[in-house]
Amino acid sequence: SVEDCEIVELPIVHNENGNITVLENNINIPFDIKRVYYLYDVPMGAERGGHSHYQLQQYVVAASGSFNFILDDGVNKREVFLNHPNKALHIKPGIWREMKDFSSGSICLVLASMEYTEKDYIREYKDFLNYRKNG
Ligand code: TYD
Repeated sequence: SVEDCEIVELPIVHNENGNITVLENNINIPFDIKRVYYLYDVPMGAERGGHSHYQLQQYVVAASGSFNFILDDGVNKREVFLNHPNKALHIKPGIWREMKDFSSGSICLVLASMEYTEKDYIREYKDFLNYRKNG
């Protein structure tokens, strides 16, 4: 459910010259990272997402700036505001997501458990609801 999509506090290596946050497979991220991508230059007012995945897990980080994720498990919706690079949103499989309110210059960093395949997407909301109801 949407309640299973935790906001995880990431470690910070801090000194007077700045911060480093490190993510390492199976140490502080609970899956093997197979793919990294990031969204940037998102125009003001743009909305992205609008899909779910059968298997994919993701850690989403506001590497810069801020944005909102709307999570939907077919029954409940939850809005998560990400605005700091030491927080990750763990999106579990089978969650419909939409993204909006990208601040100017924001960078949405995504660490993903699988390589890209369109076969893992559910892009029609009615197909998503059907999948959540009937598997
Ligand atoms: P999509 O996942 O729908 O973007 P968002 O959820 O951010 O709105 O992907 C948009 C397009 O980019 C789609 O045509 C597929 C392509 N794409 C890849 O080729 N590889 C990838 O790893 C990702 C994430 C997207």
